[in-house]
Amino acid sequence: MKHRANQAIGIFDSGIGGLTVANAISKHLPQEELIYFGDTANMPYGDKSKDLIKSYALEITNFLLNEKKCKAIVIACNTASAAAYEYLRDVNKGATPIINVIDPIVEAVIADDTIHKVGLIATKTTVESGIYQEKIARRKPSLLQVALPTPLLAKMIEEGFYNDQISHAVIEKYLNDVILDGIDALILGCTHYVLIRDEINQHYNNQIKLFDSTDIVALKLKGILENEGLLNTKRKNENVFYISDMTENFRESAKMFYGEKINLELYKIWNKIN
Ligand code: DGL
Repeated sequence: MKHRANQAIGIFDSGIGGLTVANAISKHLPQEELIYFGDTANMPYGDKSKDLIKSYALEITNFLLNEKKCKAIVIACNTASAAAYEYLRDVNKGATPIINVIDPIVEAVIADDTIHKVGLIATKTTVESGIYQEKIARRKPSLLQVALPTPLLAKMIEEGFYNDQISHAVIEKYLNDVILDGIDALILGCTHYVLIRDEINQHYNNQIKLFDSTDIVALKLKGILENEGLLNTKRKNENVFYISDMTENFRESAKMFYGEKINLELYKIWNKIN
């Protein structure tokens, strides 16, 4: 089916970390209507198998496309992008633009010829998928690469520990790992890490380049919508933020990830299926 410019953009994540991406998209594309889905019932994705994440991602994508009639899908989660992007793209057969958060970062990193050694920090599933490493190696084999799984970080941030002593100690412990010695750029390969960007910058005395999935992804999406003739000119409806399980903690943390107060709505996608 042909999409129209006035349809919404569907954005999904394992939980609320992808709100950092949604916020960047709303800043760069304020005229677009966004429908966000955070799969809080199944988070974290970061230590789940690829097959399980693929099944979650397909169900959520079908919901956004079939029920919410979205014109494009943004996988606002590195882990889901690593595990399920190619699968979703193949199932969709090019009918809808599907954007992941990994390719735009890879493009930005390889375009920068001042970088000689790049590091990646991300969930276990993302690091072990080897997807960043493969994509960079294929397009720029001369670029040295190292990767470190940092599984505590997403949970720590989600619990509200950032810009404090606890987050400093955990970040120091990870970033002092010898594997990261000598890097001149670091990929923040998890949507949560946007909240500790300043702390990471401080660790490196602002001496290395940091790449995250906010502006880079929003601008990539903008370019794709432009090319497809799908850029909206005027937003009719408010943005909607669904999550698949509601707790007080999610409500409180949403503001911290999105940067301003938003109303989360519970949508029991999994109960509906069972
Ligand atoms: N937001 C996810 C990502 O970007 C990490 C959180 C999770 O493990 O679900 O990889």
